[in-house]
Amino acid sequence: MKALIITRDSQLHTEIAAQGAARVPALSVAESRTSMRDALERLAEAPELVIIDASDFDATAAEGIDRLTRHYASASFMLLTRGEQQEVLIRAMRAGVREVLELPLVHRAFHEAMDRIDLAAGVANMRDGKVLAFIACKGGSGATFISTNFAYALATLAAKKVLLIDLHGQFGDATLYVSDQKPGMTLADVCSQIQRIDGAFLESSAVQVAPNFGVLAAADSDTAPKPEQMETVLRIARQHYDYIVLDVGRQIDALSLRALDEADAIYPVLQLGLPDIRDGRRLLDIFRSLGYPIDQIRLIVNRYEKGGRLRLQDVQNALGAQVVHTVPNDYVAVTDSVNQGVPVLQIARASAVARSLAELVELVTSRRVAESKGLFDRLFGRADHETY
Ligand SMILES: Nc1ncnc2c1ncn2[C@@H]1O[C@H](COP(=O)(O)OP(=O)(O)O)[C@@H](O)[C@H]1O
Ligand SMILES: [Mg+2]
Repeated sequence: MKALIITRDSQLHTEIAAQGAARVPALSVAESRTSMRDALERLAEAPELVIIDASDFDATAAEGIDRLTRHYASASFMLLTRGEQQEVLIRAMRAGVREVLELPLVHRAFHEAMDRIDLAAGVANMRDGKVLAFIACKGGSGATFISTNFAYALATLAAKKVLLIDLHGQFGDATLYVSDQKPGMTLADVCSQIQRIDGAFLESSAVQVAPNFGVLAAADSDTAPKPEQMETVLRIARQHYDYIVLDVGRQIDALSLRALDEADAIYPVLQLGLPDIRDGRRLLDIFRSLGYPIDQIRLIVNRYEKGGRLRLQDVQNALGAQVVHTVPNDYVAVTDSVNQGVPVLQIARASAVARSLAELVELVTSRRVAESKGLFDRLFGRADHETY
């Protein structure tokens, strides 16, 4: 959270900056003013919180509080007073300021007030992002291609704010599938500074592929992110994005498990072949033993060609889960896209595989619930929610 501080007291300024920096998510002092007059003359760039030290305020300065609350209408306010300052207090209350603390600053009271402010601000702007995990049943199934290109399609076709996180421990390649930019930061870098995390930090750590689509690169370092750090990343990401798409890779470890626990839906990707089905079965057995509800697991069959020896029904029978989508085999379009690092939707918009990804976007964001609608839902129209 970005704060504007109005105080003449440099010690108090330092104290608040230090306390703020230690918070999760951090409170950063973005701008400072030395008096109410200074604050009114030099307006700040959209602060989320305004902290006013009113200990030396006279009547004129107190009047300024009202002007500031009107100017920064979407910001939260905190007033710091010293001793009897009835007049200032009443003005501030009338202006809508609800957090008033006595100086000298009691750190516990400050943090409690900040918790209330965070909560109120969070509730106001919080998105309730969904976490969708793509996992390859077997290496080369196409999980990275589908997750990255699906995430791009979700951002560009459905105008959703999307973050893809590459969960590969090493050799993660998700960024390369949709971008030629070199990632400046990785998931490990974000986790190693977890106390700084907020929506803006996450966004600036991702490779920005489109205005509303970022990719957070794989950890690619010796210090693996910790499961509890992953949980924090996802919690903050949910508040900031509509969808968080995970390229889980094949490895089931402490980190990917925690991420899968958090997922709203898991999309195992497999091809129609016995080796894929065998590995898929093992994966689904793991999911079952973890107690994941089966309707949360949605199979995607990649490189699907009709008329093969194995049918979709065989996959469903063997794995005991629904195939919710198929992606056609499209060698030219996919190879061009992957080799150039350009989303297939951009490079071959009319291709069969691009159309299929658009359908998957529709399926995930659709307000209609297709086949599985029960009679009750049909009668009472209760199916009006996203199916992701
Ligand atoms: N639908 C498809 N049609 C043709 N080739 C595909 C398709 N999906 C993936 N591929 C190819 O398969 C290779 C492996 O895909 P990838 O997404 O890296 O697999 P995974 O992440 O599951 O290991 C890619 O290089 C890509 O060219
Ligand atoms: Mg991969």
